[in-house]
Amino acid sequence: MITHDVVIVGAGLAGMRAAIESAKVADTAVFTKVHPVRSHSGGAQGGINAAINPKDSWKDHWFDTVKGGDFLGDQDKAQVFTEEAPERIYELERWGVVFSRTSDGSIAQRPFGGMNFHRCCYASDKTGFLLLQTLYEQVLRHRVRVYEEWVVTKLIVEEGSVRGVVAYELTTGKIHAIRAKAVVLATGGTGRMYRVTSNAHACTGDGRAMAYRAGSPLEDVEFVQFHPTGLYGHGILVTEGCRGEGGFLLNGEGERFMMTYAPTKIELGPRDLVSRSIWTEIREGRGVRGEQAVYLDLRHLGKERIMDRLPQVHSLCRDYLGIDCIKDPIPIQPTAHYFMGGVPVDVWGASTYLQGLFAAGEVSCISIHGANRLGGNSLLDTQVFGRRAGIAAARFVQGRELLGFPNGQYDQEVARIQTLMERTTGTNIGELRTELQRTLTDLVGVFRNGPDLQRAVLAIEALQRKAQDMVVMDKSMIFNTDLVGALELQNLLLGAELIAKGALRRTESRGAHFRTDFLKRDDDNWLRHSLVFAGSDGPLWKDGEVTLTEFKPSERKY
Ligand code: FUM
Repeated sequence: MITHDVVIVGAGLAGMRAAIESAKVADTAVFTKVHPVRSHSGGAQGGINAAINPKDSWKDHWFDTVKGGDFLGDQDKAQVFTEEAPERIYELERWGVVFSRTSDGSIAQRPFGGMNFHRCCYASDKTGFLLLQTLYEQVLRHRVRVYEEWVVTKLIVEEGSVRGVVAYELTTGKIHAIRAKAVVLATGGTGRMYRVTSNAHACTGDGRAMAYRAGSPLEDVEFVQFHPTGLYGHGILVTEGCRGEGGFLLNGEGERFMMTYAPTKIELGPRDLVSRSIWTEIREGRGVRGEQAVYLDLRHLGKERIMDRLPQVHSLCRDYLGIDCIKDPIPIQPTAHYFMGGVPVDVWGASTYLQGLFAAGEVSCISIHGANRLGGNSLLDTQVFGRRAGIAAARFVQGRELLGFPNGQYDQEVARIQTLMERTTGTNIGELRTELQRTLTDLVGVFRNGPDLQRAVLAIEALQRKAQDMVVMDKSMIFNTDLVGALELQNLLLGAELIAKGALRRTESRGAHFRTDFLKRDDDNWLRHSLVFAGSDGPLWKDGEVTLTEFKPSERKY
């Protein structure tokens, strides 16, 4: 049986950052569905925040983060996050990240939404991708064992302690039991439950689903962030860096409508507010060309600036829409982008519910982003808390015995996969996924309301019943992407059920969760985290305390 002290699931920026730390002192392996540099972290184009300008202060970054999250984030944890940020940026610089520079050679910083300072360090519009390359070099340097194209399907927990995972090796078709003293989940988000999303195909919420099934609760799952500027019809990210560089949002009447909704910050309001404003324009008939879109206009920035700072945006527009953003405005629409909730962990990435379980990056909920993450804080999250989770997991395994591996759980997982493989007739996986994506996009979007959410819950439950007899058409075990799709769909369905039920339960509007039937934030009843546990008859909900330290909740104005 494969055995490692620390097993990290996911090789995006959080997983690799954890691995670099853990491998210094412990036997560490990373299991990943895709090659590390193809991870979805590469999609984060615009930058990474840190108060590195002498005129800036981490305390201001702290406040902007707490306010941006509509006061739901735990302030003590957001303090750790913002205080440690500059150190992580200089570390990345030392490792060789080619940050864009100012004329005096300092790391360049651009404005980003909801921030009161130009705080977002960037490498043109390829920041995430360049961070991935650099971290992968460090992973190689530290000789971390990476199992590429291995799909982890189950987290093994017995008597409240992690014992390892089960993984499907795509190239051989084998299903392996893997023993470990600690498991770090770094599996990212779950955007593929939406039809319009910026997320890569691999973002199917596997880590959240595995943790939940194994006994961990999930925290604040109802908060889903819609990035305001997804490429129209595709959802592909068009970075907030466009607006940071001075891009305008225009409605069908040619007006810079954000002046009405966020008079101070205009296009650089926080994402929840900008996405709602765009949808309001569209719903009130001021979209462009009768479509569900408005324009992002970069033309006034000029060719030189666009090609220097936003070259990827230029190619995306050309390749997907056949337009030249130097000459034409870009049609955009809000796109499902980021999940604020996840596996609850402390500032060292450790679960307070399952011994030996750690989580970092988007799969985790520490909670620093509260009800709405600010752009540029996600890459930072991977570096601050990926590093911490790696240190803590390595520390956890020191001197600790490897606990017994419950073979029965491995057998059950093999049986689950065999059942899927043996079925010859039943429901089509692609049709179920399409229906799920339509349901989420139509009913659990930027604007939500009770009746829609109820319809969503019923629709998702019906899809879950249908999924019980879904059929995998490819009957070979070698590189069976149809089988992977089936397993991922089960994770997406579970995630979607919890999001819709959580959103129905939270009868207020806060951050990215906006209810048209409960328009106001309700601190008396809902300044609370939500925690959902797997009960024998379905999800069980509880509330958790929000830690307030420095900043008293107030109305957000931009
Ligand atoms: O717009 C962007 O470049 C996305 C960045 C982020 O989500 O942090």
